[in-house]
Amino acid sequence: MAEKKESNNSEDGRWTLQGKTALVTGGTKGIGHAIVEELSGFGAIVYTCCRNQEQLDQCLEKWRGKGYKVEGCVCDLILRPQREMLMEKVINYFQGKLNILINNAAVAVSNLAT
Ligand SMILES: NC(=O)c1ccc[n+]([C@@H]2O[C@H](COP(=O)([O-])OP(=O)(O)OC[C@H]3O[C@@H](n4cnc5c(N)ncnc54)[C@H](OP(=O)(O)O)[C@@H]3O)[C@@H](O)[C@H]2O)c1
Repeated sequence: MAEKKESNNSEDGRWTLQGKTALVTGGTKGIGHAIVEELSGFGAIVYTCCRNQEQLDQCLEKWRGKGYKVEGCVCDLILRPQREMLMEKVINYFQGKLNILINNAAVAVSNLAT
């Protein structure tokens, strides 16, 4: 089987996210992590956040190793001052242009039905 070609375009070359900007909250794990990789793979410039600096650093290193343009910071989105700090950083990083917002971060809590 032929190896898949690394490209910033869809397989049929009809579309790309080259140069588009994206904020993905909670990009270090689970669904958010997969979204960061998918958007980056199509050429988007991605900013992400989470609460764990070590995990963020590990992800950023891995993504940059793949050639993805990803930046991020630690931010606890529950706290308003930290949300405002995130917005400042994102505005500066993207110079005011945000094309895609993936409001993903949350903690799923499951309970037994009673
Ligand atoms: N997985 C499912 O089956 C499922 C089903 C329905 C809906 N969802 C929704 O899909 C989204 C992602 O779910 P997931 O399963 O991929 O979750 P996950 O694996 O637990 O990942 C959550 C991500 O969000 C970050 N995060 C959590 N709380 C945060 C906070 N207060 N501030 C900043 N970052 C925070 C986490 O990093 P840190 O912990 O380091 O902060 C992590 O990067 C959630 O909104 C969830 O409710 C999931």
